[in-house]
Amino acid sequence: MTGESPSPRQLELNSTGDLKHLLDLREFNADLLKKLFRRARDFQLEDGRIQQSASLTGRTVGTLFFEDSTRTRSAFELAAVRLGATVLNLDVSRSSTKKGETLRDTLLTLQAMDVDLFVVRHGESGAAACVAKALDGRAAVLNAGDGWHAHPTQALLDTYTLWDRGVDFTQSTITIVGDLLHSRVARSLVQALIILGCPRIQLIAPPTLLPQWAAHPSVSLGTDLDKALPASHVVVALRLQTERMRGALLPGAGEYFTRYGLTQARLDAAQPGAWVMHPGPINRGVEIDSTVADGPRSLILDQVRHGVLVRMAVIESILAGDI
Ligand code: CP
Repeated sequence: MTGESPSPRQLELNSTGDLKHLLDLREFNADLLKKLFRRARDFQLEDGRIQQSASLTGRTVGTLFFEDSTRTRSAFELAAVRLGATVLNLDVSRSSTKKGETLRDTLLTLQAMDVDLFVVRHGESGAAACVAKALDGRAAVLNAGDGWHAHPTQALLDTYTLWDRGVDFTQSTITIVGDLLHSRVARSLVQALIILGCPRIQLIAPPTLLPQWAAHPSVSLGTDLDKALPASHVVVALRLQTERMRGALLPGAGEYFTRYGLTQARLDAAQPGAWVMHPGPINRGVEIDSTVADGPRSLILDQVRHGVLVRMAVIESILAGDI
């Protein structure tokens, strides 16, 4: 992998290899990923409910979302509550950041109220690493998405979802199609898939949305989804992030759907039993057809549910030590 490096190495793991922050996945290895997967699965009860635990009673998790979110924010909050922690959701739009308070002062203010772990989403790449540095060990930091850079818990829940279904990463071709240029989800997912030994990761996008960060022998870039599908065991569709596009990078949503939209006919061209994923939010009729999004091969709602389990494992690992 190449590209910007907002977080220096050894910021995430302590000397014994345990998590102290989660900023991206660069310091991860397959053992740590699988340890988190096994712990996440422990939280899934046989009757389908998610386990309640008191392991973090007395601890406080603060969420700071400078960008909109449904899934990530809700899943972090539910994960922390199910571990017995207190959750402080700062409403950034009504906070003193609007009166000119710096992010660092906001953090130190909340940390003085004994917040143990901050979950941060921000539009700037590298924001989570800056927060970790500003806190200087006084609290842990979990990156909930920073600019185009990383969305590590999304990658953990995506790969957990495949692992939970018994997918053998070392024998699979995984195709990721969509707005790769702006996608922190794709960057983190590719990192996780490489760590897990996936030999063939096909990144497909219109020429204007192909990424520049994907230099690795397992990764290929292409612009033709129909050529990529026959080898695919998993197809991950991404949202067009129009809010991050400066100027017209696409002719229009209709033409995009014609060339890159995931339809039933396209899914039928993939490997038998291929899985469909999407990190959400989905734009039906733009990057994915409803029959596919709601169909039997779709793992989209599994991904959402697993977001709680995986975030429980990560929060517990950071705040309660080894898992
Ligand atoms: N997948 C994801 O990050 O969704 P939200 O923006 O709703 O959190």
